[in-house]
Amino acid sequence: MHWYILGAGAIGCLCAELLCNSGAKVTFILRNQSQLQTFNQAGRQIRLRDGDTCCSISVDASAAADNAEIRHLLVTTKAYDTLPALSSIQHRLAPDAQIVLLQNGCGQQQEVARLYFPRQIWAGITTHGAWREAPFQVVRAGIGQITLGPLGTSQLTLPDGWEKIDAAIIAEPDIKSALWRKLAINCAINPLTAIQGCRNGDLLTDPKLSLLMRGICDEIEQIAHARGQQLFTTPLFDAVCEIALLTADNFSSMLQDLRQERQTEIEQITGFLCREAAELGMTLPHNQRLLDQIRSQQNRHYTKGEGSE
Ligand code: PAF
Repeated sequence: MHWYILGAGAIGCLCAELLCNSGAKVTFILRNQSQLQTFNQAGRQIRLRDGDTCCSISVDASAAADNAEIRHLLVTTKAYDTLPALSSIQHRLAPDAQIVLLQNGCGQQQEVARLYFPRQIWAGITTHGAWREAPFQVVRAGIGQITLGPLGTSQLTLPDGWEKIDAAIIAEPDIKSALWRKLAINCAINPLTAIQGCRNGDLLTDPKLSLLMRGICDEIEQIAHARGQQLFTTPLFDAVCEIALLTADNFSSMLQDLRQERQTEIEQITGFLCREAAELGMTLPHNQRLLDQIRSQQNRHYTKGEGSE
């Protein structure tokens, strides 16, 4: 089995290790010559650090513009990069290719299923914790699991070869609900921590932030309910508090993106929720305010970036 991976960030590298260890051949698809050069400088391998233990794994790389056919593709790019990244390799995708999307946010998965029909598409979420300390070098921050399910069909199979992976891979028949649950958690934690510049745990200890988070959660639940989505067996606020406690010392991915002046996934997280609300004729004052605030902070960075070039 030969799996290509689009997106050589922390989750892309973790998955490369899992797939290599399962016996698959793994090739990263890199966007341009400069990324290929960085990959060559890294010794054409990925390095994973787990506490004091370090392991290196040799993988291949190919440029997006190459011509070799792709029959198995894992996409671990940032959510907003999904469509442009896929379109850069469209000429290589076999008509019966299997595509796995392992990303935050909602909306892009349905768009991929529509645009790349009749290929088989799986969507997934992961609770693995990892961060990239340098290109192709990843630090493992917590062992989690990968939950995957096919889009647009009820057949419960994993993509080719994934049953051989020696890690928790959960086959989920109702992946849409799993994506909604992850979306709800991200909507409740990410923008608020990003605006406040605080750790996830501060949402629990600061009464003002907890109250705000409760308001945000109530709105998310209203939309999920209107869309017929059952979220958790407990109220969303309680589920979010549990995750915030488990990740109390972490800075959310959105806060890290803002601090490093990178584009955030706000449009695929709170943006998706607000678009759903608009379609339903509903308003979400708390979530809309967060969306506006993150958009304006991002725009400031871009404007600054453009001015300094
Ligand atoms: O995006 C993140 O940072 C994480 O998904 C989560 C669960 C909010 C914890 O930081």
